[in-house]
Amino acid sequence: MQSHPPRKVIFDTDPGVDDAMALYYALAHPGVEVVGVTTTFGNVTVAQAAINALYLTAIAGYEVPVTMGMAKPWVKTSEAPPDFIHGDDGLGNLVTRQPTTNRLDPRASAQFIVDRARAYPGEITLVAVGPLGNLAMALQLAPELPTLLQEVILMGGTVLEPGNVSPVAEANIWNDPHAADLVFGAGWKLTMVGLDVTHQLILPVTLFGHIAKHHAHAATDTLLHAVKFYADFYSDLYPHVAKIHGCFGHDVLAFIYLTNPELFTLETGRVRVAVEGLAQGQTILRRRHMNYPQMGWEAHVPLTHVCMQLDAKGARQVLEDTLMRDWLKA
Ligand code: BDR
Ligand code: CA
Repeated sequence: MQSHPPRKVIFDTDPGVDDAMALYYALAHPGVEVVGVTTTFGNVTVAQAAINALYLTAIAGYEVPVTMGMAKPWVKTSEAPPDFIHGDDGLGNLVTRQPTTNRLDPRASAQFIVDRARAYPGEITLVAVGPLGNLAMALQLAPELPTLLQEVILMGGTVLEPGNVSPVAEANIWNDPHAADLVFGAGWKLTMVGLDVTHQLILPVTLFGHIAKHHAHAATDTLLHAVKFYADFYSDLYPHVAKIHGCFGHDVLAFIYLTNPELFTLETGRVRVAVEGLAQGQTILRRRHMNYPQMGWEAHVPLTHVCMQLDAKGARQVLEDTLMRDWLKA
């Protein structure tokens, strides 16, 4: 039996196939209450991200506020969305979409975050799985935001694992390094779920086939379609992923951290982001016990909890158990 009330979460996202996995995990989990989905550019344009968030929630039978946010990076020039990873539409090129009636909340994502944080001080957790411009903008609107939110969990960055857009940079941080550096420096309770752990969990397409068969529902069929496209990309790239026709579940791990932190091993230290040059987008962790003299690493730089190891078997089981629950409404 559920002993605590569910955690109120704002989901900041750029759906995106693994974003869709994460959204459905959050909706399905009894310990999570999604109070808003704030979209950003990233895997697709921000307009497409909002369309996808509305569509995914609607076909699952949920009506959650969805907003549109940042359309481009804080400083650097925009790049074309990675249609070869998530499809032109972000969901593996769906052949058809059923008509839905959910409508966009007219507020900008950053304003929505601030409004909800002020309405429920200390109660909202922000799970961010795209480029971090909405959070940086929200900080500009309300510098006191770190005291209003319970916690921020972000999927992004990497410490020891090689990057996925450059040898050192992970995509979400790469897409908006200036915003990311502001987020790491803001002073909220912050946990980074990066490639160090997301590359430890490979999810086979068959898992999503099993879930889709169990529910026989448009939402899980849509997820299966999207995952197949995404797994083709990852299987072309990594032979060990191809062996099981699988993919990484990056974004869903941010929620698995929220619901099952015992599956993760963390290090705590100061994280800064390289905003320019060859290392652009690199997340650099200064371990707590080291005392470096250079500027930028002073003791006032806030601490970040960084996920370094994962119980992958446990995470996969939690994902499967959650998505197999009776959670679909329509
Ligand atoms: C991250 O980048 C995006 O492509 C995924 O949705 C995830 O948020 C992984 O690097
Ligand atoms: Ca994402």
